[in-house]
Amino acid sequence: MVVEKSRAEQIIAIDVLPARADDLDAIVAVEAQSYTYPWSRNLIQGSLESVHALNYVARDRRSTGVRGFMLNLLIADELHVLNLAVHPLYRRSGIGNRLMEASLAAARERGAVVAFLEVRRSNIQALTLYINRGFNVIGVRRGYYSDNKEDALVMKKIIGR
Ligand SMILES: CC(C)(COP(=O)(O)OP(=O)(O)OC[C@H]1O[C@@H](n2cnc3c(N)ncnc32)[C@H](O)[C@@H]1OP(=O)(O)O)[C@@H](O)C(=O)NCCC(=O)NCCS
Repeated sequence: MVVEKSRAEQIIAIDVLPARADDLDAIVAVEAQSYTYPWSRNLIQGSLESVHALNYVARDRRSTGVRGFMLNLLIADELHVLNLAVHPLYRRSGIGNRLMEASLAAARERGAVVAFLEVRRSNIQALTLYINRGFNVIGVRRGYYSDNKEDALVMKKIIGR
């Protein structure tokens, strides 16, 4: 008999931890499942190797498989969110929120005072997450995404003094 895991059990079974260089393949796999136009492996590798990187993965406690990731740059006192994705099978169980919380907490600890991100206007899931986590829309980049010329909403959250 297959017993579906409850949301709470899924949350308990996930650890949010700093990303490692050897998470590259797993992050590329989650990325491929998450976007119509995924980032290239090279771009993801560059984000993992950046001297400004502040990256987290959501790791399954039992299998150690990566279920989600959040890639950020910490530059001076600004956190720039580059990418956040959760494997489709593991969505709506709190992983996106936990990745965001871990990134913001680490950035704050290292002296960041503000976080910025861009999101497609049509991405209701992500937009809702960001608004619920205290981000505000501060601008629009018209036709920012080259694939379909969609607008990007620029969002900001004050995270420190
Ligand atoms: C956006 C994304 C990372 C959210 O991850 P997740 O693990 O499902 O998020 P959570 O379970 O932590 O949910 C956090 C909040 O996001 C919002 N949210 C998530 N999925 C949603 C949906 N389908 N509809 C409306 N709101 C949604 C809700 O506010 C939710 O809080 P709630 O469950 O208490 O209502 C995930 O949907 C994803 O990977 N999407 C594809 C990649 C992407 O678009 N990334 C963002 C690029 S800017």
